[in-house]
Amino acid sequence: MNLAVPPRLRSTHTLLRELAPHLPIADRVLALSEAVSAHEVFRSLDSVADVQIFMEHHVWAVWDFMSLLKSIQSMVAPVTVPWRPPRDAAAARFINEIAAGEEGDDGPGGVPESHFAIYLEAMREVGADIRPITRFLGEMDFGFSWETALEIARPPAAAADFVRSTLRLCERPLHERVAAFTLGREEVIPSMFRPIVTHLAQASNQHGFLQNFIWYLERHLTVDGDHHGPLAAALLEQTCLRTTAQRDESLTAAEGALEAGIALWDAALASMRRDTGPLQSAAG
Ligand SMILES: [Fe+2]
Repeated sequence: MNLAVPPRLRSTHTLLRELAPHLPIADRVLALSEAVSAHEVFRSLDSVADVQIFMEHHVWAVWDFMSLLKSIQSMVAPVTVPWRPPRDAAAARFINEIAAGEEGDDGPGGVPESHFAIYLEAMREVGADIRPITRFLGEMDFGFSWETALEIARPPAAAADFVRSTLRLCERPLHERVAAFTLGREEVIPSMFRPIVTHLAQASNQHGFLQNFIWYLERHLTVDGDHHGPLAAALLEQTCLRTTAQRDESLTAAEGALEAGIALWDAALASMRRDTGPLQSAAG
């Protein structure tokens, strides 16, 4: 596998559009991706309670994104002692670079911090409930399997379903994981976060309690949109589209990942709609 960045900027969607006229599943993945990007939940954060509910669902995707990433890193840039060189240095660099940013980015306080920790701090600022996700991690530290820890932690039902689907995906062949990661996550994140930033920017100017959340969202617009997109496309092309069977399995995995995302956002929106109130002050 030789993962050179193509001379022209390509996105994973460019690849899919090339496939779509002859391949219905490529068309379906594109349509699902657009449905995620256009989901109403990202334009519906109108009250503090809405932001809290959104974050209480989204934090599980922030967490399980890392498991999907690590499951790919374990194959592309494995930790082995004695060490052996990676088969594809460009692929290893891409995955390692994402992992390095996720686990130790230059945080809003000017010191290295993981995106997950920044997200938890943002939840605290907004008064969102971090107890289920911290309980989940605590139960795994205690020795419980992720399945048992998830049952004990009692996240929103749709978030639990989402985590289960992602962690089962982590046991699938590499090409399915890469397709779900690139098409189901990396490609759609900027278009999910951009409307939230636009929607919240004015409230954040007036109320400092959204600063960490806005920082988190804007950080992903920068790194995922500008830099990671072409690299993700190259990884997808090299890992997932080499044979017909591999291509079909990969796109089916991406389809499943996007459908799981839509179910999560549908549930978050339904939960938000049970609440009303202006975006005025943090609850905690
Ligand atoms: Fe991140």
